[in-house]
Amino acid sequence: MIDLLTDSGTSAMSSNQWAGIMQGDESYAGSPSFFRFENVVQQITGMPLVIPTHQGRAAEKILFSILGGKGKYFVSNTFFDTTRANIEFSGAEGVDLLCEEGKHPTIPAPFKGNMDVEALKKFIIEKGAANIPLCMITVTNNSGGGQPVSMQNIKDVKKVCTEHNIPLFIDACRFAENAYFIKLREDGYATKSVKEIAQELFSYADGCTMSAKKDAFANIGGFLAMHQKELAMHCRNLLVITEGFPTYGGLAGRDLEAIAIGLNEVMDEHYLQYRIRSIEYLTNKLIDAGVPVMQPAGGHAVYLDAKEFLSHIPVNQYPGQALVGALYIHGGIRSVEIGSLMFGKYDKNKQLIPAPLELVRLAIPRRVYTQSHIDYVAEVIIEVFNNRHQIKGLLITEEAPLIRHFTAKLKPV
Ligand code: F0G
Repeated sequence: MIDLLTDSGTSAMSSNQWAGIMQGDESYAGSPSFFRFENVVQQITGMPLVIPTHQGRAAEKILFSILGGKGKYFVSNTFFDTTRANIEFSGAEGVDLLCEEGKHPTIPAPFKGNMDVEALKKFIIEKGAANIPLCMITVTNNSGGGQPVSMQNIKDVKKVCTEHNIPLFIDACRFAENAYFIKLREDGYATKSVKEIAQELFSYADGCTMSAKKDAFANIGGFLAMHQKELAMHCRNLLVITEGFPTYGGLAGRDLEAIAIGLNEVMDEHYLQYRIRSIEYLTNKLIDAGVPVMQPAGGHAVYLDAKEFLSHIPVNQYPGQALVGALYIHGGIRSVEIGSLMFGKYDKNKQLIPAPLELVRLAIPRRVYTQSHIDYVAEVIIEVFNNRHQIKGLLITEEAPLIRHFTAKLKPV
C-alpha cells in the first residue's frame, strides 16, 4: 500500500532528530528542550512569544476561542478544515477570499494561493474592521491545491490589515515549501536563502500557528507564536487548562527537540529541490496521460480535479470521494477528498451547497517514498482514469454535523 492520505506526522525523521529525542529533558517546568525549541522558532519567525501545543489544531483552538465568538468574521486565502471548524465552533464565521486564478484548477499561474486583496478591502468595509479580529494567510494553501502565496501578496495584505488595525497571522504549516517557491518564482529572491525568505515572510505577520507535523518533520507537535503580550497571556492561560504548562504545551520534551532540529533541516535547499521536483514529476506524468490535475504542481501533494476526472458523477454524489475509493480498490493507494464531502454545506431544504472545487489530494510524506513508488502511483491513477466510466457516485449514510468527512459513512449509488 502507498499511503498518501496525508503528509502530516508521516514524514521520516532524520538520525539527528532521533538523537535529539534521546536528549529530551522531561522537566515539567523550564525544560532545556523548551528553550532550544523556543530559540529556533524565534530565529525563524522573529516572534518573541512562543507557545508549544500538541499539534496545529490545538494552537487554532486556543487562538479562536480567545478571538472568536458570534458576530465575528475571520478572513483568509483559504482556511484549512480544522481551522475553519475551530472558528465555527466559537460561533464566528470563516471567509475564504482566494484570488481568481486559485479557483481554476487546470489554469497554471505562479502564486495561486494568493489572497484577493480587493475582495479583502471590500469585505472589511462591508462588515466593519471591528468585527474582524484576525486575518490569516495559509502557506502553502493546502485546501487550494498546495499552491504558494507570493511575498508581494503578503505585503499587500499586511498593508490593508495595518490600515484597519487587523492583526495578520500566518498558518505556517508549510512555510519552507512556500519560501522555496518564492525563491524559484518571485523576482528578487533567487539569490536569497530559504531561511532569509522565511524570515522576511514572518516579518510581516503579527503571529502564526504551526503544525510541526508538516514542515518540521515531526510525528507530533505544533505551536503558536506572536508579538503581542496580552494575547499571549490569554493563550498561555488557556494552554495551561487544555494542553499543559507553557514550557511543554501538549508535548514531551523529546518532541520539542525533534521539532527544533526538523525546523532547521526543512530549510535545506537540496531537500526542498528534491521534494518540490518529485511532486512536479508525478504531476507532469499525469498531465502527459491526459489526467486532469491541479496546475502547476503544488508543494506537498498532487491534486486530481475529480469534477473533470469523473464528469459523469454529479457533485451531490461526491465524485472526489468516489475517486478516493477507486484508487484504493484498484491500487492500494490511499488519498483524501478535498471537496464537497469536506466543505459542502446544506441549504434549508437539505440540498447540498457544493464546495467550489472537487479535488482528490495525494499528499507525499517527506523523505519516505522513492521514484519507483511515485512511478507506481502514476500507473495506478492512469489505469483508473482509463476505466473511469465504471466508477459510481456515493450517497452519505451517516454523518456528524461538524467536520463530517472524518467519520462519515457512504455507499455507492
Ligand atoms: N493548517 C493547515 C494548512 C493544515 O494543513 C493542517 C493539517 C492544520 C492547520 C492542522 O494541523 O493536523 O497538526 O492539527 N493538515 C493535515 C493534512 C491534517 O492532512 O493536511 P494539525
